[in-house]
Amino acid sequence: MSGTYPHTRLRRVRATAWSRAMHRETQLTPADLIWPLFVTEGDAIEQPVSSLPGVSRWSVDQIVVRAKEAVDLGIPCLALFPNTQPERRSEDGKEALNPDNLMCRAIRAIRDALGDSIGLLTDVALDPYTSHGQDGLIDEDGYVLNDQTVEMLVGQSLNQAAAGADIIAPSDMMDGRIGAIRAALEDEGHANVQIMSYAAKYASAFYGPFRDAVGSGGLLKGNKKTYQMDPANAEEALREVEMDLAEGADSVMVKPGLPYLDIVRRVKDTFEVPVFAYQVSGEYAMIEAAVAAGAGERDALVLETLLAFKRAGCSGVLSYHAAHAARLLNG
Ligand code: PBG
Repeated sequence: MSGTYPHTRLRRVRATAWSRAMHRETQLTPADLIWPLFVTEGDAIEQPVSSLPGVSRWSVDQIVVRAKEAVDLGIPCLALFPNTQPERRSEDGKEALNPDNLMCRAIRAIRDALGDSIGLLTDVALDPYTSHGQDGLIDEDGYVLNDQTVEMLVGQSLNQAAAGADIIAPSDMMDGRIGAIRAALEDEGHANVQIMSYAAKYASAFYGPFRDAVGSGGLLKGNKKTYQMDPANAEEALREVEMDLAEGADSVMVKPGLPYLDIVRRVKDTFEVPVFAYQVSGEYAMIEAAVAAGAGERDALVLETLLAFKRAGCSGVLSYHAAHAARLLNG
């Protein structure tokens, strides 16, 4: 450890760019990034999302163009989210099981165009498909039913895997869903399909713009506090992660990102498994708002926040700034 001044001057190694580069403990590369993309119906469509300046929904043909861009930038994986048309939403979200739904068509189109050159992570939860915007099936009081929802999530996962998804990412926070999905994937010939569990997902105020983007925001009554975690809790996050790993998760996610880096570090230190974090929509919007207000410089804010995830122990980060960051990192 450090000795006594003046023998020890910690500023010595910071004096030049080459020395700073040589002593850097953490590296950020495009391979650390997962790019979330919103898919919408139509052809040659770009629909800007007003609460996420710089982020758009793309029709399937355009998603393929974004996927090619990602490959060229060295981004290894996309996270896909559908903006389901209101007439295809229902109380039970059964559009999630339709083999020709928007998500499955996007998966197949990217796979046809790009083969295995990019990973496809698909979100599992019913909120893009329900008429009430909750992630699962609800009873007459609006309570989200656990075991009945898990059955739907298993069907949704098999549907995505059959279309060609590489990583199933359950974001619903039902108990027992990882084990049920893992068993079904094994039984149905998808042994190599990974599961990245949104293991520690908090009931956060940072998801607003995402709900606009998938079209569930206006529909949602109440909140998601009976299934997503209380932001006050950290030990409970470790229990969630432990359970999901025991049930067969290949990697785990912490969400949101920056306000929860303490959770990332504790999970990493405790379990020594691949940990990912989601820099969520509200975090993206905060950076863009700061830039618009002249309170910060975009490129520096983006790279510093992404690097912080790596320093905290993440293997990678889902970020709406992924393509921009990859461009900066590629110089
Ligand atoms: C839905 C889901 C959400 C996000 C990812 N999957 C929203 C929610 O739980 O309400 C949020 C992502 C973001 O805010 O960028 N199950």
